[in-house]
Amino acid sequence: MTPVITIDGPSGSGKGTISQLVAERLGWHLLDSGAIYRVLGLAADRAGITAQQPAELAALARSLELSFQGGRVLLGDEDVSQLIRTETAGNAASKVAALPQVRTALLDWQRAYAKVPGLVADGRDMGTVVFPDAAVKIFLTASAQERALRRYKQLKGKGLDANLARLVAEIQERDDRDQNRSVAPLKAPAAALEIESTSLSIEEVLKRVLERVYKTYPGLAVPAT
Ligand code: DC
Repeated sequence: MTPVITIDGPSGSGKGTISQLVAERLGWHLLDSGAIYRVLGLAADRAGITAQQPAELAALARSLELSFQGGRVLLGDEDVSQLIRTETAGNAASKVAALPQVRTALLDWQRAYAKVPGLVADGRDMGTVVFPDAAVKIFLTASAQERALRRYKQLKGKGLDANLARLVAEIQERDDRDQNRSVAPLKAPAAALEIESTSLSIEEVLKRVLERVYKTYPGLAVPAT
């Protein structure tokens, strides 16, 4: 069976960055499942389909022309990597992601990413629903205040306008929706290594994750860097 490492957590917990670093370090594939929901939110918006139309959304999910190329996310031929990273896109993603029909439509597709030599899967339900048999499960958290602050600095760093209080409110609203939906809610999988990263650097988090990985797979061949 292909080895899978799942990294789940709320938005802004740093799981995207950590997942990417772990995948690079091991030379494994990476699944950014949030990007799938983000692209679906965007495609739905363009097609005029709302969260009140679950059957239409599930059909759209099944026919979604999404591909990952290097670090880029494509919808058909269009590079939507930047477009899907806005707060608006994140909220749209969280709304379509709350629909059971949509999640079911995307299950097999996500599982197909588990290919040799291994997969690092980043999301909300990677360890609980999509890859319940994964040998390494990580649950990454940080306070809403800290996550909003990270996002604030990121936006300011790009020269964009940002309001910290609004970001905190948006993050809490999204957490609330992701944690309280009826299917695949955001929660720590059983036996997950939980890392509270509020006062940890990326390097410290990465070190803890890799320690768990090497403990689980002692013979793991790490590609030369
Ligand atoms: O990880 P992210 O912020 O890119 O995810 C965007 C939204 O997609 C998030 O608010 C909830 C949803 N999502 C999900 O429901 N399940 C996943 N496995 C990944 C993301």
